[in-house]
Amino acid sequence: MKETSFPPSADVSSALGVESLSPEERIAIKRRLLYQRLRQVDALASRMVILPDGRRMFLRFTTAHRIEHMVHLVSFVLLAVTGLLQRFSYLSWVAYVASVLGGLEKLRAVHRVAAIALALTSVYHVWEILDIWFVKREKGPMWPRLQDFKDLWQNVKYNLGLASRRPQYDRFSIEEKMEYWALLWGTLLMGVTGLMMWWAEEVTRVLPGWLIPVARALHGWEAVLAVLAILTWHMYHVMVRTRNTSIFTGYMTEEEMKHEHPKEYQRILRAYTLRRKIWRELLRLAEEEEALRQERMQSQVQA
Ligand code: HEM
Repeated sequence: MKETSFPPSADVSSALGVESLSPEERIAIKRRLLYQRLRQVDALASRMVILPDGRRMFLRFTTAHRIEHMVHLVSFVLLAVTGLLQRFSYLSWVAYVASVLGGLEKLRAVHRVAAIALALTSVYHVWEILDIWFVKREKGPMWPRLQDFKDLWQNVKYNLGLASRRPQYDRFSIEEKMEYWALLWGTLLMGVTGLMMWWAEEVTRVLPGWLIPVARALHGWEAVLAVLAILTWHMYHVMVRTRNTSIFTGYMTEEEMKHEHPKEYQRILRAYTLRRKIWRELLRLAEEEEALRQERMQSQVQA
């Protein structure tokens, strides 16, 4: 989100190097500039909502993001359960649980349906990324930045007791970004190796046969790693260290925003104030325009 300063009172004529603009032209140009600025800050400013009791809430995830996360959550849990039951079915108690749930063939079928759901959310996610890059022409909040490495270092120092405060995060913390990057390559690996097993016959027509057991081993061990990462890293950060429910409710309280995303919190407040100033200035311009119109009418009547 681009943020720019607010120069509505600046003299438009001199700013444009045009000294001979009529008052109407000057107002029209000013209004166009103000609307342009409004479009830039509106999305960010709209993220703050003031409740009737005066509390301020901050939109963190849109409905689309929440649905995406929910589909991902359900498909991942199904994949993990049905996959791990297959993977460890040589253990008698796992074989017993698998048979209670309908047997290995059923679990394999559920695994494939859940894999399609996960693949669909991944396609949607790639489409979102392409939209950010090529339509909005931004890098996106998950793009690695130098600041991430500074944040990581500050975080390590903070956790070792060598720094007095946590890094001041913007939209996403370094913990969230690291998890996202791990999920990205993990999903890619699971997708590729899963499809290789799914279409083993076709794959071995063009690639060496030994790749299938390799794909199976990678798929199985990455599954264990992914489940452990979710149970430790993800759960610790969203359920233990904080009780962050914004991915389900969509909103964070002001206190949560101040604590978890102080830089983004400040950006939203600035955008909100700026938007109010712009609206006030647009109103003033409308009054100025009306006064000019009246003036012109009067002079026409007198003439
Ligand atoms: C889009 C992604 C995925 C696809 C296409 C996929 C596909 C497959 C396929 C075809 C199999 C072989 C069993 C069968 O024939 O049905 C399999 C096994 C397995 N999958 Fe997936 N899967 C995917 C994602 C996942 C995820 C996210 C996990 C766990 C978090 C997972 C865990 C497992 C495990 C543990 C096995 C057993 C491997 C073994 O037998 O050693 N899969 N998967």
